[in-house]
Amino acid sequence: MLFSIISGRRIHSVLVGLLCLVIASAICCSSSVGSSSILCLESERHALLRFKQGLVDESNALASWKSEKDCCKWRGIACNNRTGHVITLNLRNSFDDSKFGGTPLRGEIDPSLLELRHLNYLDLNFNDFGGMIPRFIGSLRQLKKLNLAHNNFSGPVPPQLGNLSNLHTLDLSMNQYVSFQNLEWLSHLSSLRYLNMTRLNLSEAVNWPQSFSQLT
Ligand SMILES: *[C@@H]1O[C@H](CO)[C@@H](O)[C@H](O)[C@H]1NC(C)=O
Ligand SMILES: *[C@@H]1O[C@H](CO)[C@@H](O)[C@H](O)[C@H]1NC(C)=O
Ligand SMILES: *[C@@H]1O[C@H](CO)[C@@H](O)[C@H](O)[C@H]1NC(C)=O
Ligand SMILES: *[C@@H]1O[C@H](CO)[C@@H](O)[C@H](O)[C@H]1NC(C)=O
Ligand SMILES: *[C@@H]1O[C@H](CO)[C@@H](O)[C@H](O)[C@H]1NC(C)=O
Repeated sequence: MLFSIISGRRIHSVLVGLLCLVIASAICCSSSVGSSSILCLESERHALLRFKQGLVDESNALASWKSEKDCCKWRGIACNNRTGHVITLNLRNSFDDSKFGGTPLRGEIDPSLLELRHLNYLDLNFNDFGGMIPRFIGSLRQLKKLNLAHNNFSGPVPPQLGNLSNLHTLDLSMNQYVSFQNLEWLSHLSSLRYLNMTRLNLSEAVNWPQSFSQLT
């Protein structure tokens, strides 16, 4: 009888000990997950939501873009894993890789993107924004890669794009109504390594041979 009480207490204390261990490891592990997964910045999340408001998203491709969630986990977004800044906005609607296999996005490209000061990759390929390429894109100074191909853009390319001194990839192809008065801005893109201007209207560009020849 006495023996069974003692062993019962032992079992009890072993169980309590095990429970403590389980709780401790749960706390330890959840806190380590918490510290390694950086949440996106509130100002950048709001900027993305404002950008979304300007879009016409018929197939609800951006369903994951909701106010309460961590925007680093939203579709098409990648953040710097130390600072949490949004560094990638990839809304490429490519039918072959079926990433966004739905209806192309339309609407307005809202200047709220300027809040994303660390954005280095912007890809809007295969959507249908139309209208002029927004001038403010030239102020996204950290951009390394800019893809505006297949978007039915029209009108002149803003020379402000020449301010993108970090740009190494620029794809404006397949926007047949886009025209150029002048390509002088191209010569400022000192980091450029890839340029695609397939099916753009160069008929009014006056000095393009010089501008191309100045590219490194
Ligand atoms: C953070 O990002 C860098 C650069 O993209 C990558 O090399 C590194 O493995 C990442 N670290 C973690 C913990 O995900
Ligand atoms: C492309 O834009 C032009 C106006 O610039 C418009 O008339 C045309 O319908 C658009 N095409 C598509 C496929 O959206
Ligand atoms: C950008 O480029 C335009 C036109 O080339 C220029 O007038 C402007 O001063 C530059 N800087 C900024 C911050 O837009
Ligand atoms: C340039 O763009 C066109 C149309 O988007 C594409 O078919 C072509 O492969 C591109 N060229 C290069 C060299 O990447
Ligand atoms: C290119 O632009 C010129 C001048 O704006 C226009 O006359 C011409 O029709 C355009 N070409 C094409 C293929 O759209």
